Amino acid sequence: MGMYIHIPFCIKKCRYCDFYSLPGKSGSDLDNYVRALLKEIKIRGGQMPTVQLESIYLGGGTPSLLDGRQLRSIIKACGDCFNILPGAEISMEANPATLDKAKLAAMEAAGINRLSLGVQSFFDDELDLMGRVHDAAAVRETVDLIHSRGWKNFNLDLIYGLPGQSLGRWLQNLKQALDCKPCHLSLYLLQLEQHTPMGKDVARGRLQMLDEDEEWHMYNLAMEYLAKRGFDHYEISNFCLPGKECRHNLVYWQGREYLGLGAGAVSFVAGSRYSNQPNLKLYTEALLSGKPWPVEELEHMSGRDLMIDALILGLRLCAGIDLADFKQRFGADISSEHKEIIAQYMDRGLLNMENGRLSFTKAGYFLSNQVLSHFID
Ligand SMILES: C[S@@+](CC[C@H](N)C(=O)[O-])C[C@H]1O[C@@H](n2cnc3c(N)ncnc32)[C@H](O)[C@@H]1O
Ligand code: SF4
Repeated sequence: MGMYIHIPFCIKKCRYCDFYSLPGKSGSDLDNYVRALLKEIKIRGGQMPTVQLESIYLGGGTPSLLDGRQLRSIIKACGDCFNILPGAEISMEANPATLDKAKLAAMEAAGINRLSLGVQSFFDDELDLMGRVHDAAAVRETVDLIHSRGWKNFNLDLIYGLPGQSLGRWLQNLKQALDCKPCHLSLYLLQLEQHTPMGKDVARGRLQMLDEDEEWHMYNLAMEYLAKRGFDHYEISNFCLPGKECRHNLVYWQGREYLGLGAGAVSFVAGSRYSNQPNLKLYTEALLSGKPWPVEELEHMSGRDLMIDALILGLRLCAGIDLADFKQRFGADISSEHKEIIAQYMDRGLLNMENGRLSFTKAGYFLSNQVLSHFID
């Protein structure tokens, strides 16, 4: 299994972000949260003593706001209460404004062996528009620091499709990202929820989103640019040097089970997807006073739901799904059951069926949501 641990704190909320994270919390809030988290780790480990962890992912929010002692205590508790497999991937997300030499050393001491840095852009005006707490110089300094400590296994996140962003600017971002020598890149198309500050600006006409054609050109440019430079495109938004896929995220896309710990974290076990409620106060108070913390079941899936879920997740991977394996797991022959939909999208050049696998084409990745919602219907 994989384990996801949510750290719901940020220095300041970015103007586009809809993740469950709270800005401006105090040191004692963080400390109490970590104490509560340690209790949850112990309780969940006691409930599932045979679980073997192949990955741990500290995500957020901004896990790099935690200090070395807190990071060490979390990873140690995971090792005390669960079996962490030898060579497990232990990742942490970080914001460039929060890393320094001591923090990197503490991460190494805690056993963290993969880093995912939220860069978003290498241009100050784009970072300002997004309301990031750091500038481009801080990104470069942080990357230099990462190299100086000998880290090789790190990812950079970039966002594209920003209002006013040109194709040339996007290419510059890609070039600068590769200059940082990451082994993994996550490229996210800007998605705005209405209630975020940027979402409101768009609704009021103060900002204008790019049109779909412009977004497609940016995506296509990234695919071509990175393929020529040795990066495998292995998931809709993810690219890596050979063998450097994020093993934790593969757990999700391969439809395998995972545990989510911390306020707002989602778990998927025995066909059930459930979430710790995204409520810092309730979560912390309950755990610290020895009471059950609030959990809600999101869906309990049986036969057909599990199959649709595996189809949707599996198609996110560029390798697509193995139809024979799928038939063995779910007793469903997709190529005959969904013959018309598949034929329709193959004709439009969005789906591909080859060597017993169903996958998206390059154009298909970009329109994947449309195609997948057709499958769900
Ligand atoms: C939880 S953040 C982790 C990194 C850290 N919190 C930071 O931002 O520096 C994960 C990534 O999701 C992406 N992201 C967040 N909100 C997004 C949005 N509305 N549209 C596109 N990408 C988004 C960003 O690239 C971000 O780095
Ligand atoms: S730092 Fe990351 S998690 Fe926090 S608000 Fe910004 S994008 Fe969201």
